[in-house]
Amino acid sequence: MCAIRHSSAGRTSRCLRDRSRRGLANRRRRDLPSAYVKSASERRELLKAVYEEARDCTCCPLHQTRTNVVFGAGNADAELMFIGEAPGANEDRMGLPFVGQAGKLLDKLLGEIGLDRTEVFIANTLKCRPPDNRDPHPNEIEACRDYLDRQVELIEPIVICTLGNFSTKLLRADMTGISRLHGREEVRVVGSRAVRLYPLYHPAAALYTPSTLETLRSDFHRIPELLALGPPAQPQISEPVPDADEPVPEFDELPPEPPPVAREREPAAQLGLF
Ligand code: URA
Repeated sequence: MCAIRHSSAGRTSRCLRDRSRRGLANRRRRDLPSAYVKSASERRELLKAVYEEARDCTCCPLHQTRTNVVFGAGNADAELMFIGEAPGANEDRMGLPFVGQAGKLLDKLLGEIGLDRTEVFIANTLKCRPPDNRDPHPNEIEACRDYLDRQVELIEPIVICTLGNFSTKLLRADMTGISRLHGREEVRVVGSRAVRLYPLYHPAAALYTPSTLETLRSDFHRIPELLALGPPAQPQISEPVPDADEPVPEFDELPPEPPPVAREREPAAQLGLF
């Protein structure tokens, strides 16, 4: 497996995290002070760092055949994210997601609920195009998974719409198909973030099948109602676990918590990179 290092994006490397998990059972944990909450501009800068890392990624064989890494595009502080399958030929050439016919349909449906691409973030399960648009392979999905988790952790969406089977199965960690799940929202944890997961038919599947388009449209029109619910309760975040040879501070030695910082959404800050 590829040795992915994340220190540039403000997270520990995979091997460090594994070591932390091993030591968790016998170490003291406490909630992080709210000062650890990152502003939208900090999260945006960290997202750019993840993009720069992904641009050079060689974690799976798809790097040999790609023209561009298609990291994702849109608002780095979006309340709504879409996750498709993988870039196709046009996306690979342009380095942007959903630029073909399926993307045009996505734009149209967004317009119908009063949104456009500058207000949402669109990404894919795979960041590189599988040759001849074949289905993603499990090793490719696994190699790319961490980028998706970090995108979600940094963007902090309220609602994630998975488009089609691949992203739905991945984020639900379950093989149930999209025809049973579409239009049924549920709270799921993605990376370290609880989100309202909302599976939808893939727009490409709706292009030539009117009944699928009508179902996609009626599911899509419920998105504003889900956004209005606000973010679900978040899992408790724990302080990074110290190494075995580091002394663990007693609770009464820990500094007092600063007052809570309310999270404010920045006005649509389009990621100029993409
Ligand atoms: N289909 C996808 O799933 N993603 C794209 O970016 C384009 C088409």
